[in-house]
Amino acid sequence: MKIVVTGKIPQAGLEVLKTAGFQPDAWSQDSAMSRSDLLSKVKGADILVTLLTEKVDAELLDAAGPNLKAVCNVAVGYNNIDVAACKSRKVLVTNTPGVLTEATADIAIALILMTTRRLAEGERVIRSQTPWQWGMHYMLGAGVTKRVLGVVGMGAIGIATARRAKVCGMTVVYHSRSEIDPKVAAELAATRVTFDELLSQSDVVSIHCPSNESTRHLFSKPQFEKMKPTAFLVNTARGPIVDEQALVEALENNQIAGAGLDVFEFEPKVNPGLLHRDNVVMLPHLGSATVETRDAMAMLAANNAVAIANNREPLTPVG
Ligand code: DGY
Repeated sequence: MKIVVTGKIPQAGLEVLKTAGFQPDAWSQDSAMSRSDLLSKVKGADILVTLLTEKVDAELLDAAGPNLKAVCNVAVGYNNIDVAACKSRKVLVTNTPGVLTEATADIAIALILMTTRRLAEGERVIRSQTPWQWGMHYMLGAGVTKRVLGVVGMGAIGIATARRAKVCGMTVVYHSRSEIDPKVAAELAATRVTFDELLSQSDVVSIHCPSNESTRHLFSKPQFEKMKPTAFLVNTARGPIVDEQALVEALENNQIAGAGLDVFEFEPKVNPGLLHRDNVVMLPHLGSATVETRDAMAMLAANNAVAIANNREPLTPVG
């Protein structure tokens, strides 16, 4: 059984594969493999363990060849994988839901506080040794208490973010394909609203939906026009959900008050129109970046690979 791990993953994940009796062919460098190296490395693989930076498309699946049984992504998001192309070749796809919920919600709430309270801007003042003095009117931000958080996509990460926001005194509205568990809705006092209602009511909009064709540019000019001019947009999901150029224009035109972004439309490239804006906080896709979370992600992906290699049902299949 040839298991190819196409990016560097934590040792904990490799141990799962080795303990189960497999000798993974694993990329061990921090930088990603070139596409041509990737295409040759996957040749003859039975299972691929992939990172979100690798595009798993028809070309890659064909390069792997007819033995390929599964692609086990080390991420909850799987927009790097052409699931239809996998399906048509009877290749299973798995992801890593659950294990990164809390870490990602932490980053969402951090971005909510950083944007509304101008924290990165304040830190830049100190670091640049710009003269400053406490003042009644100095660097005032927007408080979050009694403000409305609009959660777009009320899955596990959306709920975990809402839970944190509630502790900060925020009221939660959400827009999701389906109603959430009534017990959770009651605990959070969260109200399901239409997308347009969410846009017009929210003081902070936090994105937690999956990235796919139907959510591409879910946030573009018309949506920014519906948001309050005092509202902030936070994205810890995937970059393509937001039309980044339209976001730059919305910020330029003061259609919204600011943005907190952990992900970018053309990651790792960032629209230059965002770079010099004090009302934008940007992080380099840190949502799941804790040691224990990355270990858990790698172990879950590896356990999916082991299950499939042993003809068992994977733990977390996609679709
Ligand atoms: C995921 O798992 O989709 C996260 O974005 C990784 O940080």
